[in-house]
Amino acid sequence: MAKEVGNKKRTKQNKGKKEPQIETIRRQAMKDISKATDKTIEEVRVSYLGRKGTITSILKDIKNLEPAKRPAIGQKANKLRQDIEKAIKTRIQTISVDTYILPDEIDVSLPGRKVHLGSKHVITQIIEEIVGIFGELGYSMVETGEVETAYYNFMALNTPLDHPACTLQATFYIDRDVKDEKEKVLLRTHTSPAQIRVMKEKKPPLYVIVPGKVYRPDVPDPTHSPMFHQVEGFAIDKDITFGDLKGTLEVFCEKMFGAGRKVRFRPHYFPFTEPSAEVDVSCIRCGGEGCRVCSQTGWLEILGAGIIDPNVLEEVGYDPDDLTGFAFGMAPDRIAMLKYDISDIRMFFENDIRFLEQF
Ligand code: PHE
Repeated sequence: MAKEVGNKKRTKQNKGKKEPQIETIRRQAMKDISKATDKTIEEVRVSYLGRKGTITSILKDIKNLEPAKRPAIGQKANKLRQDIEKAIKTRIQTISVDTYILPDEIDVSLPGRKVHLGSKHVITQIIEEIVGIFGELGYSMVETGEVETAYYNFMALNTPLDHPACTLQATFYIDRDVKDEKEKVLLRTHTSPAQIRVMKEKKPPLYVIVPGKVYRPDVPDPTHSPMFHQVEGFAIDKDITFGDLKGTLEVFCEKMFGAGRKVRFRPHYFPFTEPSAEVDVSCIRCGGEGCRVCSQTGWLEILGAGIIDPNVLEEVGYDPDDLTGFAFGMAPDRIAMLKYDISDIRMFFENDIRFLEQF
């Protein structure tokens, strides 16, 4: 009898503490959390995880369950507690982003934050100006690599490798240890190899402008930098003459440096042009009277140019009896120095913001 009563009692007690429906609670909790706003999320948290919260109660009541069931329920309940904590954390993050961008939460009377706008580097500006002028004249811009082979940088440009320009004093080599000397790898010393690359790839007529970086092992000083910029230009067509070169560069100088500029061609030598010239423009500071910028000469040297040597045309498979062309190369760094009266080329590459933001 007593046994029976005892049994009954235990049964009753077990019935009173029904196994908690963890999965049902989980579903409800996740729903509540996903609907919660920044104002109700704390309520939701307390209702599940607070001192009297659903999960807290389940954990407290575990001791009243049948011993065999305790570990499994305990584990499930603990896992649910962690998941709810995690979900609440995530929800708070989402809500704070939502709240932040809600338009009616923005105080429009607050002063705005100043956005610090940068500007293009002065050399980039000059390059864009040059390319823009030639663009108007119908030239297309092309860029080729800064790492070249001896073939493109020298040999195809009618420059044998025993030319002084190819020595270690004048060229950065990356790999000279190759069987075929044409394959020596170097940093291009000028943008002229682009002539060869474009001519080999495209059919004439060609009117091309090529800006880019070039490298020479010079010790940095006010007028030398181991890296500087060039803009190469060339035209290949039937019946191109030195007159076309002169006319083109005169139009360029007028547009670049202002109306009334005089342009002067001085005979010069480049292996890949014949005849060749160095080109001066009347001083953009004094107009030709003589000043500090032009070293009292009235002229500023701005580029090298000439008629493309027939050997170069033959090298790329063009017929020099059918086609002729001119080429020129200029240094935008030098043009920027003349234009803004900058006395030291190194200032362009030191990246001092106080210098750069002046342009
Ligand atoms: N590549 C020459 C230099 O770097 C410039 C040049 C280009 C000369 C094209 C003539 C024709 O000095």
